[in-house]
Amino acid sequence: MNKLKAVILAAGEGKRMKSKLPKVLHKVQGKTMVDWVIDTARSSGADDICVVIGHGGEQVKETLKDRNVKFAVQSEQLGTGHAVMQAGDFIEDNADIIVFYGDTPLITAETIKKMLDYHRKEDNSITIISAIVDNPAGYGHIIRDENGLFVKNVEHKDATDEEKLVKEINTGIYCFKGTALKKGLSLLKNDNAQKEYYLPDTLEIILSDGGKVNAMVVDDADEFAGVNSRVQLAEAEAVMRNRINRYHMENGITIIDPSRTYIDADAIIGCDTVLLPGVVIEGKTVIGEDCVVGPDSRLTDTKLGNGVKFQYSTAIESSVDDNTTVGPYAYIRPNCAIGKNVKIGDFVEVKNSNVGDGTKVSHLTYIGDSDVGERINFGCGTVTVNYDGNKKFRTVIGDDVFIGCNTNLVAPVKVGKGAYIAAGSTITDEVPENCLAIARERQINKTGWVKK
Ligand code: UD1
Ligand code: CA
Repeated sequence: MNKLKAVILAAGEGKRMKSKLPKVLHKVQGKTMVDWVIDTARSSGADDICVVIGHGGEQVKETLKDRNVKFAVQSEQLGTGHAVMQAGDFIEDNADIIVFYGDTPLITAETIKKMLDYHRKEDNSITIISAIVDNPAGYGHIIRDENGLFVKNVEHKDATDEEKLVKEINTGIYCFKGTALKKGLSLLKNDNAQKEYYLPDTLEIILSDGGKVNAMVVDDADEFAGVNSRVQLAEAEAVMRNRINRYHMENGITIIDPSRTYIDADAIIGCDTVLLPGVVIEGKTVIGEDCVVGPDSRLTDTKLGNGVKFQYSTAIESSVDDNTTVGPYAYIRPNCAIGKNVKIGDFVEVKNSNVGDGTKVSHLTYIGDSDVGERINFGCGTVTVNYDGNKKFRTVIGDDVFIGCNTNLVAPVKVGKGAYIAAGSTITDEVPENCLAIARERQINKTGWVKK
């Protein structure tokens, strides 16, 4: 069997996106379009991948630097055939080469494998995927003879009025034998309406050269929808969102309202977790089993243990361990490790801090740059004062401390194990273990003062 390689065309400008970002770097469910295509190529069995770059090429290259792909540069966009020519030596005689577009993120490996099976079983020189669509305007039309055999592809702009009515279109996905691709490219001309070198012209060329060319018709054209505008980007996003949500539901996750649940491609979610409406799960977030997330919550690159309840809150680049509750209206900023059975209540912000098991931070509290022990009770309105306007300092609090309401802990400061802090204190000096610290003015009552 021939080895499998893939060429991904990503040199086009994508004018209609009206964007500073190269088109293929726009994201669908948190993953760039070209990354989706690379992943599909890989799961179809093509390890060796060449991405043809042009517009914004340096940026595409930089973004894909860890993806182990090769690059070819097309400095002038002279057509899809011309783009593949730039791959040069990457096209080997004894390889099967799949051509993808970088702006069609919805294609599945399942479909590609079907094409590949068909290609190899029929021993085709070229196999293309075609689809029947209601509105074929703008596509290449697939022309067949009276016996239904493939004759050629004709681009809409070059088609006769009769050909323009043909609803079988070229999806733009092909599998070539390396020899056929090389030969086809070497004979391409640009004598057409757009003065471009059309890749699909190689089909007719190879056919007349005695090769075997076949179109595999698929029912569902949605997979091949290219993204050319922000509207189409949102459409692709909706299709992908639906797929991802279905995948999780089929794996034992309850999603109350899939139309209001947004899960990035790389997220992992444990069994029997429930997602309530308005949940956004981003990046490499991992959620354990039996959690309830939402409503209206956002998790970015965050790890939740099992049995976590997380409502109306945000967490970024942090971890929250088993059976902890978060929210409503909590904000966990980057680099926090929240322990087990912790309570992070309403209007609590935690940043760059560790919070030990069983600690309760029930309301209106800021914990920044702190190492907080276990079983601590934070009174309402506690503030770690971590910033002197110039530098940030850490607060360290031992296990079993009780902090009264409205306490300021002015860092750098330490509170020893088992200590008590009286409500309203501003703590500037270390509090030793098991000690009661009171740092506020004593109350004075002036008898009869009001009447006087
Ligand atoms: C192409 C096909 C058409 C097919 C349609 C399916 C050709 C000539 N036509 O048309 O038969 O029905 O796709 O979507 O191939 N690109 C480059 N360099 C270039 C030109 C294009 O890298 O010089 C890339 C673009 O970035 C894009 C892809 O190739 O990702 C397709 O190019 P585009 O010009 O959009 O082709 P279509 O006109 O859509
Ligand atoms: Ca296109």
